[in-house]
Amino acid sequence: MHRVLLDVDTGVDDALAIAYAVRSPALDVIGITTCFGNVPVDCATRNTLHVLERLGATGIPVAAGEAAPLFHPPMRAYPAQFHGEKGLGDLTFPDPEGKPVSTPAAAFMVDQIRRYPKQVTLICVGPLTNLAAAILHAPEIISLVRQIIVMGGAVGAAGNCRMHAEANVYSDPEAAQLVFQSGAPITLVGLDVTMKTELGLEDVQRWRERDSDLTRFLADITSYYIGGYRQAYSGREGCALHDPLAVAVAIDPSLVEVQPMALQVDLEGIHSYGRTVADLRPRCTDRPNVDVCTGVDAKRFQEHFIQTLMI
Ligand code: BDR
Ligand code: CA
Repeated sequence: MHRVLLDVDTGVDDALAIAYAVRSPALDVIGITTCFGNVPVDCATRNTLHVLERLGATGIPVAAGEAAPLFHPPMRAYPAQFHGEKGLGDLTFPDPEGKPVSTPAAAFMVDQIRRYPKQVTLICVGPLTNLAAAILHAPEIISLVRQIIVMGGAVGAAGNCRMHAEANVYSDPEAAQLVFQSGAPITLVGLDVTMKTELGLEDVQRWRERDSDLTRFLADITSYYIGGYRQAYSGREGCALHDPLAVAVAIDPSLVEVQPMALQVDLEGIHSYGRTVADLRPRCTDRPNVDVCTGVDAKRFQEHFIQTLMI
């Protein structure tokens, strides 16, 4: 069992990732930090606390984080068609009883990484703003963190929120570039692999038939998310499991193939601002800075994911 910290912008697939991590016997979730992204940060925090209540895991501390990108005004990267206006589809719920801890997200990350040197895996599934702020504040965490798994980017695949850019990186490209160039041990779980995963309506139906409080909740929010995919991808009756795949890599790295790459974020392009660009030339002499996931055993992952949450 190893210690993980999740950094989320709780939308639907973040909620699925939280549930997967909390219910996985292989992981010990020592905290969750929240960020703007799919929804404003207050809403992401509220959704996160709600998901933890559903999981009966209110002992996990939640730290609220950044409300906007580090160096420029927010850009709308996430259409509400996927996550709904408030992030969990069309679900409404009373305010959670739990409250976030008083420490802000970046400071919380630093505290936990210092407390457990070389033991914490950070799983970031939203914009990288909190982590960039943590690195700026305490650069020593780069050598103290065990691993950073980032859901973000698209190296060979098409972008999602822009032609070439993936939503999490596009939401704060300067923060992502700072993190990627920091020298920290990073594994990138981008659209190259996440778009090869799928949760279909028949899988959602298995959760419905299980008929527990948790599986009903998962089925409801995921049905909404699949509705977004239906609109955006001309009738696709299933959704990609972006954020859960990042958690899966922490549980079982053998689910993916990785290739070390020299990776940058384009911070100037007119059509490619926020794009993750890798030098793939055989004679590239730049040192690789990121392990990029290039292949995934999608079937094995999907089954493990569904089964872990069949409770
Ligand atoms: C990422 O964008 C968000 O909408 C999802 O939660 C995921 O983290 C996929 O590009
Ligand atoms: Ca997310």
